[in-house]
Amino acid sequence: MLEKIKAIREEISAIIAFSVEEVEDLRIKYISKKGKVSQLFADFKNVPVDQKKEVGQAINDLKNFALDKINQLRENLESKTESDTGIDLTRPGEPMKLGSRHPLSIVKNEIFDIFARIGFIISEGPEIEDDWHVFSALNFPPEHPARDMQDTFFIEKDPDVLLRTHTSSVQIRVMERTQPPIRSLFPGRVFRNEAISARSHCIFHQIEGLYVDENVSFADLKQTLLYFAKELFGENTQIRLRPSFFPFTEPSAEMDVSCSICGGKGCNVCKYTGWLEILGCGMVDPNVLEACNIDSRKYTGFAFGMGIERITMLKYGIKDIRHFFENDVRFLKQFESAL
Ligand code: DAH
Repeated sequence: MLEKIKAIREEISAIIAFSVEEVEDLRIKYISKKGKVSQLFADFKNVPVDQKKEVGQAINDLKNFALDKINQLRENLESKTESDTGIDLTRPGEPMKLGSRHPLSIVKNEIFDIFARIGFIISEGPEIEDDWHVFSALNFPPEHPARDMQDTFFIEKDPDVLLRTHTSSVQIRVMERTQPPIRSLFPGRVFRNEAISARSHCIFHQIEGLYVDENVSFADLKQTLLYFAKELFGENTQIRLRPSFFPFTEPSAEMDVSCSICGGKGCNVCKYTGWLEILGCGMVDPNVLEACNIDSRKYTGFAFGMGIERITMLKYGIKDIRHFFENDVRFLKQFESAL
């Protein structure tokens, strides 16, 4: 009897089925009333008394084994049927849409690359600043209008805590802790208390550049900026420097590039002048070097600062600065290929 049970068990464990109908046939064959396993129960009455316990146990085990096997076969086939009608597991995955880089980041990285090729590194400083780094050390006299509440966001409780209005503050931080030679770019977000319009925003981004060493001259500044303009706007770009004033540079200048849209012939972007203003620059004022404990008789330097929004608007013909901050994907998606 035990031999027979073992044989049926082996038979069952070898079974495979290809359809739910086949499984049903197996159920009938083994565990229906007249099935092979049920038949064993009928034979059980002929088993000698001293073997009843062992054989009874073995038949029960076999019945459970058969039930489990049949249930498992049925389950496998049912889930397979479901995926046949629903999910095709062999299909390739949906392509995942990559995000695109923000146009300001694209232009910022391009500017980093251009200056990296002539040895500029990158340094950063805090957005929440004090008067010394944003104004005093940069040679702003105490009554200078740029300190005015109208331009600068101050903290009400403490007039010495403010949001930086320009990245020139990072010049000071770097010069305070580094002796020349210094050749660095300072990118970052700046804040001004201005009404938001198509042309101006209370938050924008600047990149500042600083080069301090022995014998740095205005000619170095001009050549560096010419190289930069040609790399950014194209080989045929020309520059012009107009005298200007900033407290932290002497002499100071503003730089125009020939209009990249009309090539200098005149259009509505350059207001028919052929030129676009893109940055302020100059030779670092000796007072600024001295404020940072750099010997102004030994060292000279140049600095420049530009707004990334403005340059990006000119480069891509964007007419409204607010686009940069709204994060409308219909706007952002257009820069996918510019990565
Ligand atoms: N900090 C100036 C601004 O925010 C820009 C600037 C002008 C930076 C001349 C400079 C510079 O380093 O030399 O308008």
